[in-house]
Amino acid sequence: MTTQQKKERLRAYYETHTMVVHATNLMRPNIYLELGILDFVTINRVVPFVQKAIGVDISNKSLSLKHPSIEFHHMTTDEFFEENKDLKIDFAFIDADHSYETCLKDFLNCEARLNELGIIAMHDTYPVDLRDHWVGDCWKVVKYIKANLLQYETFTFPICPGLTLVRKAGWVVE
Ligand SMILES: C[S@@+](CC[C@H](N)C(=O)[O-])C[C@H]1O[C@@H](n2cnc3c(N)ncnc32)[C@H](O)[C@@H]1O
Repeated sequence: MTTQQKKERLRAYYETHTMVVHATNLMRPNIYLELGILDFVTINRVVPFVQKAIGVDISNKSLSLKHPSIEFHHMTTDEFFEENKDLKIDFAFIDADHSYETCLKDFLNCEARLNELGIIAMHDTYPVDLRDHWVGDCWKVVKYIKANLLQYETFTFPICPGLTLVRKAGWVVE
């Protein structure tokens, strides 16, 4: 990869985070859930636009960077959903384990808790090629949704690393 390509990839990486921030600013969701927090880069920016921001990560090494109002859960996403069966979500951002199995589980756990007009954003869904280890296998989850979960519609920004927005299909203004 050339230096220019690396620069472009990094730009697109941060802009996908910014898309999530803009979407929450626009939608003003009550409950925002982010799976995979790392350095609190995105979730800290979302805080002003949501009633409650919940973050989940197996690592707590950047806890000192956390905005005080964020409810942080230091655990796996599986453990989080096991402990939060009745949670209702308005906006979810899935960006934790990038294996197909976990990413799919994270999606199914979010969609089961999604409010009627809720949105799920999934990161790393548009690899530059299929041997790309950076984005993992999240793109396969979008393929799965399109083939099997026809009650959902998806839109993927076609630029690596990719961001996919998912919502219940068929919603129209009456
Ligand atoms: C790509 S980073 C998240 C970046 C963050 N969403 C942002 O916008 O800056 C992925 C994070 O997922 C966490 N992670 C990986 N597997 C996980 C799992 N099974 N449960 C919870 N967190 C996990 C890692 O510790 C890492 O901090």
